[in-house]
Amino acid sequence: MPIARDPYALSPGTPLEEALTFSDVLLVPQRSSIASRKQVDLAGRFSRRITLKTPIVSANMDTVTEADMAVAMAQCGGLGVIHRFLTIEEEASQVNKVKRAQSVVIEEPYTLSPTDTIAGAQELMRRWRVGGLLVVDGKRKLLGVVTHRDTQFETDGSKPITSVMSRKLVTAKPGIASSEAERLLRKHKVEKLPLVGPGGILKGLITSRDLRMKALNPNASLDKKGRLLVGAAVGVIGDYLERSAALLEAGADVLVVDVAHGHADHVLDAVEKIKKRWPDAEVVAGNVATYDGAKDLIEAGADGVKVGVGPGATCSTRIVTGSGVPQLSAVMDCARVTKEFNVPICADGGIRDSGDITKALAGGASCVMLGSLLAGTEESPGWTVVRGGVKHKVYRGMASLTATMSKKRKESGTVDFLGAEISEVVPEGVETTVPYRGDALEVVGQIAGGVRSGFSYSGARTLSELWKRAKFVRITAAGWSESKPHALDR
Ligand code: XMP
Repeated sequence: MPIARDPYALSPGTPLEEALTFSDVLLVPQRSSIASRKQVDLAGRFSRRITLKTPIVSANMDTVTEADMAVAMAQCGGLGVIHRFLTIEEEASQVNKVKRAQSVVIEEPYTLSPTDTIAGAQELMRRWRVGGLLVVDGKRKLLGVVTHRDTQFETDGSKPITSVMSRKLVTAKPGIASSEAERLLRKHKVEKLPLVGPGGILKGLITSRDLRMKALNPNASLDKKGRLLVGAAVGVIGDYLERSAALLEAGADVLVVDVAHGHADHVLDAVEKIKKRWPDAEVVAGNVATYDGAKDLIEAGADGVKVGVGPGATCSTRIVTGSGVPQLSAVMDCARVTKEFNVPICADGGIRDSGDITKALAGGASCVMLGSLLAGTEESPGWTVVRGGVKHKVYRGMASLTATMSKKRKESGTVDFLGAEISEVVPEGVETTVPYRGDALEVVGQIAGGVRSGFSYSGARTLSELWKRAKFVRITAAGWSESKPHALDR
């Protein structure tokens, strides 16, 4: 009986399916009516219900995304996914930090009680990174506000904060329009506008900083309450349901079920379980490299699929295991699910330049995930090192030896490891350093500018136009060498 074969399967005499990656192709320039990059709308989806004005997502890696990066990414219209090599509490607290970083109304502002000391208030302001705190009694009746300015010249930290807090407050009722709140803040030259209900009970807070941030970042990715969007990664074994619950409770807008080989029964099972328990939660799952993998994840309930097996800058999966599909072909194959199921795919890994993003999007992705391009920014949690007199930041694969050991340490709560435990790890990633690149907002701004230009070369104003118009041409190694700046080679 003949055996049905899939296109990638090899049998004697069958020509091998060829797969390509970004530097194997270029996009053919086409007649364009676009006069300026500003006319291009880059919006693309990360999941069924999450659309990003800047379709760039920072990787859930421990040297790429914690709260600072996620805040910056959401401010510029993208998204950050908090990595999962943290305890459940730590990961939920990172999500919480992002949710508190910017909002129209802070529903549960940080507060002090009248018995707190000046030193205690200073410590909390430092820890929570806020310039002032509201003081409430046991029934949450608003008593006053204490700011950094009130405490900084006080030499006796043991005094109660009631001795320095200001009691004369400008307040407003909950539900005030943001334009009116802005007018009051400006008129009274104050930075905080507490919202109080009947009996003087604290109901929320509007800050001038939040209003400024909103004006500064018109493209920001926001939830319904005006807070920055944030994603959070979960695994598929052990405490993943407990972790999912904590992350959703902390306000995560999307859970990212992330494992190296996402086309596996236990991954499909985990996605199904999460969606069954939280049908309204957005869940993106991966990573896969084939249409079948993407389809199976969607049928298990995924609202978005992450595509990429082994293309990343710190990945050694393909070398260690021999598995993977060159990324552009993987994206093009998986992208068929977007047409079929209306579920977006995210091209994850292997992106070296903005041109690769345009190619990934043109190949059918709705957004991209970046690791190495963002690892050198100020906001990444990777630590700084100096190499050859130049500032660098550490960037490591999540399956590298050091990242794996750090995860094991978290899980076991110990700092010591026996050689035997180390020798059990088979790393599929490496650790390296990348040059320091400054602020993520600027880096993403530059990258997005390049992608906008990329759209215009194909005459596309939107992603759906790019999908229709883009034409790839295959190039040779000489063509790729010609594509890179080469004046300096001689
Ligand atoms: P880039 O190229 O943007 O890739 O740095 C980021 C993506 O790489 C994946 N990743 C890994 N893949 N071993 C792997 O095979 C690893 O240790 C590893 N760590 C991260 C991941 O998909 C990430 O988003």
